[in-house]
Amino acid sequence: MDTAAAVNKRKSTRAFKPDPISQSTLKEIMELALRAPSWANTQPWEFAIVAGSKLEEIKQSFIEKIDEPPAFDIVRPWGFPEPYGGRIGRLMGTEQKIKGIQREDREGRGWWRMQGLKNYGAPCVIYICIDRAFYFQEEINAWLLFDCGLVAENIMLLATDYGLGTVAQAQAVQYPDVLRKALGIADSKLIVLGIAIGYPDEEDPINQFRSERESLDGVAKWYGFE
Ligand SMILES: Cc1cc2nc3c(=O)[nH]c(=O)nc-3n(C[C@H](O)[C@H](O)[C@H](O)COP(=O)(O)O)c2cc1C
Repeated sequence: MDTAAAVNKRKSTRAFKPDPISQSTLKEIMELALRAPSWANTQPWEFAIVAGSKLEEIKQSFIEKIDEPPAFDIVRPWGFPEPYGGRIGRLMGTEQKIKGIQREDREGRGWWRMQGLKNYGAPCVIYICIDRAFYFQEEINAWLLFDCGLVAENIMLLATDYGLGTVAQAQAVQYPDVLRKALGIADSKLIVLGIAIGYPDEEDPINQFRSERESLDGVAKWYGFE
């Protein structure tokens, strides 16, 4: 698959088949993904690639914590102004409509959140971590997280090429204490993001919608093109 096709095909998968992914496939994806650029080639990322009974253990612990507020290592943003808040609202609205969840249906929304905590049934999650040393002047340096985003997109595009689906999930790292305990991740590491990965359940309508995008004209200005 060429790059344009992979970029065009990748989208968040929110229903996976339980079929496992071979470790050799994951290794091929990860080896290539490491070619991502990074700030002065710091390559600040580290990975925990988790499947099988270990992932089941994590999912179970996450479900048990569902009523606890998230405690992200990387603070999540709140209160998005327009036009960003509207985009979030439309995404959530679309997901809930497809799943037949009404606006006032708290139970339904809780169920959908639970599916997220279970990584939408994915048989594997790739957790991306960085060193706490990247805290400078009491703030995590944004450039290192930017680098994590680059390697994350590499992973997701390569996965597409292998017929796999992915979804980047902040939700997958919302209880970092669970991940530290289950995976022996040191306190000196920050857990940035989880990428749920597996074979998409193409029958599920949640995998059939494509999220909206602003037009190029809406986000780009051109200079020097006569
Ligand atoms: C940093 C980051 C965190 C995300 N966290 C979640 C999440 O917790 N749950 C989820 O279902 N999708 C999550 N997403 C997926 C986005 O909702 C998705 O990328 C966006 O709606 C665009 O849709 P697309 O990926 O299908 O193109 C996350 C994406 C990113 C980049």
